[in-house]
Amino acid sequence: PFKPVFDYSYDGVMRSFEDSLKRLGVDRIDILHIHDPDDHWEEAISGAYPALEKLRSEGVISAVSAGMNQWEMLVRFAREGDFDCFLLAGRYSLLDQSSLDELLPLCVEKNIGIIAGGTYNSGILAKGAQPGATYNYGEAPPEIIAKAKGLEEVAARHQVDLKAAASQFVFAHPAITTIIPGTRQPDRVSENFNLLKEQIPADFWAELRSEGLIREDAPLP
Ligand SMILES: NC(=O)c1ccc[n+]([C@@H]2O[C@H](COP(=O)([O-])OP(=O)(O)OC[C@H]3O[C@@H](n4cnc5c(N)ncnc54)[C@H](OP(=O)(O)O)[C@@H]3O)[C@@H](O)[C@H]2O)c1
Repeated sequence: PFKPVFDYSYDGVMRSFEDSLKRLGVDRIDILHIHDPDDHWEEAISGAYPALEKLRSEGVISAVSAGMNQWEMLVRFAREGDFDCFLLAGRYSLLDQSSLDELLPLCVEKNIGIIAGGTYNSGILAKGAQPGATYNYGEAPPEIIAKAKGLEEVAARHQVDLKAAASQFVFAHPAITTIIPGTRQPDRVSENFNLLKEQIPADFWAELRSEGLIREDAPLP
């Protein structure tokens, strides 16, 4: 059995990077993420971040990133380091636009591309707002089920696939350069890709706004 260890030290990251290269059978990495350092800010900014900067300066990684389920610490990273991109999970979606005030404009200003993960908030926006649906990796609370049901009702009125809306909405923000919907089913990879091409009427988005289901200031596709 393995015992997980959170090690965001400079040496720990360099060791982990070397181990990853061996396991992957490659000699360089495109994007290296500082992953989930929520409880390790000091070590991440003073240990992991300088390690990633060094690897980028040597050309063995192309992009320095952090991946998190929160926007607040990504704001700190953006202000204190030189990041190329971030993986932001679940904090810019049809159900959660909490990153809209600070993180997303800051990333536009600093030319930091956002890879949006958890664009279905871990399931509810793809599988439907029913009891047992997952929201950010736990059971969806009643107010989220109610809001997701509201989204589904508007989508049904306009014959829109809510999954398509969930994906296209996220992409409409200029800070978002990539979305990575997750699935265990291979045929859903192409389905999720094709959702980006579905036509969604402007009236649908206008109704989400007028019903207060999305923020007034969120950019629309
Ligand atoms: N801290 C971080 O850096 C962080 C945190 C969270 C997530 N992420 C990354 O973000 C990516 C996406 O996250 P995620 O997969 O957890 O959440 P997600 O994309 O919001 O949702 C995944 C859920 O949606 C379902 N789904 C996906 N496509 C579907 C479709 N076409 N029809 C019906 N259901 C569909 C999946 O079910 P099925 O599997 O049954 O299709 C799964 O239950 C992953 O690469 C993950 O590693 C990173």
